[in-house]
Amino acid sequence: KKRLGILTSGGDCPGLNTAIRAVVSHATLSYDWEVVGIPYATTGLLEGKTVPLSMHGLDLHGIDTLLCIGGTILGSINKGDTLTHIDEILAGYQALELDALIGIGGDGSLAILKELQSKGDWQFIAIPKTIDHDVALTERVVGFDTAVNTIVDALNRLTFTAASHDRVMIVEVMGRTAGHLALQAGIAGGADIILIPEISYSIQGICQHLAELRDRNWRRFAIVVVAEGIGIAEDSSLQPACEKPSCGMGQYIADEIRRCSTYPIDVRVSVLGHIQRGGIPSASDRLIATAFGKAAVDLVVSGHTGLMVSWQNGRVVPVSLDLVLAKSPLLVDPNSFLVETARCLGVYVGK
Ligand code: F6P
Repeated sequence: KKRLGILTSGGDCPGLNTAIRAVVSHATLSYDWEVVGIPYATTGLLEGKTVPLSMHGLDLHGIDTLLCIGGTILGSINKGDTLTHIDEILAGYQALELDALIGIGGDGSLAILKELQSKGDWQFIAIPKTIDHDVALTERVVGFDTAVNTIVDALNRLTFTAASHDRVMIVEVMGRTAGHLALQAGIAGGADIILIPEISYSIQGICQHLAELRDRNWRRFAIVVVAEGIGIAEDSSLQPACEKPSCGMGQYIADEIRRCSTYPIDVRVSVLGHIQRGGIPSASDRLIATAFGKAAVDLVVSGHTGLMVSWQNGRVVPVSLDLVLAKSPLLVDPNSFLVETARCLGVYVGK
């Protein structure tokens, strides 16, 4: 029997288990390959460890229950220092006697796996996943849709309480250096202000927009979505806690609003954090993960390597992983249709 390894790498997201299920089902049922899970991404390779993944081998309910379970049963690592252990990882891979490997990851993890693949001459196929949606050359990725829905749900809840107390609610969301999550969830959740790393903004612009909302609509509440990776405003007088992502940019914007507002303003901050990575995968993420898993197995069995499965024009197609990595991280185009749409609906999106 041929032996296929599968691993999940980088930050987890809903839909990883769905993809694992699709790979195991298709590889075993359609091609009679053996599938083994590699625990904790490259750590599992380093230590030469595997988790058996048969149709009935997981638990009492079998592999099908994985369809709707968040996280990853294989475990994962984010920002591992794998490149210092290349020789050990290659030796670990060798010891596992794999015929091929499927890696589910974001651009950072896929770059590490691609580097290892070229050194070890592995047969390797990638499946893109990320709540940040910053992997290039694919219109959809596993995990993004569920994260957007989670943020929209939070915005709905915050809108009720904001309206009840005439408050400005600042909601800090993830996304690393990209603003896709903030922009798409902000539009879908009815935000009044959306700040993303790709578009500069001013504190003056934010405060003016809040004042206009108040005057025009007689509306004293507002929802402000802040991507964690935004930079400091061009007219800033304060410093955020630190400048890397996840360093309190929501709090920084709240402090600036309090400072610049010309009328009494009640501001509150919610940092959604890892809530955005948890939860049951949405129907859309299940569909993408299943289609990607199936396509990845077909590519493996037909002998391909160094490719990523990608969603383009309603179909799954293979793309060169080298090309994907060269174009990633994919950032929001400041002139995109979605940015224009937000502005036309009266949302302040910076410049
Ligand atoms: O890349 C996914 C992501 O959730 C980013 O949006 C966020 O900045 C980062 O991972 C958080 O990483 P960690 O889980 O290591 O704190």
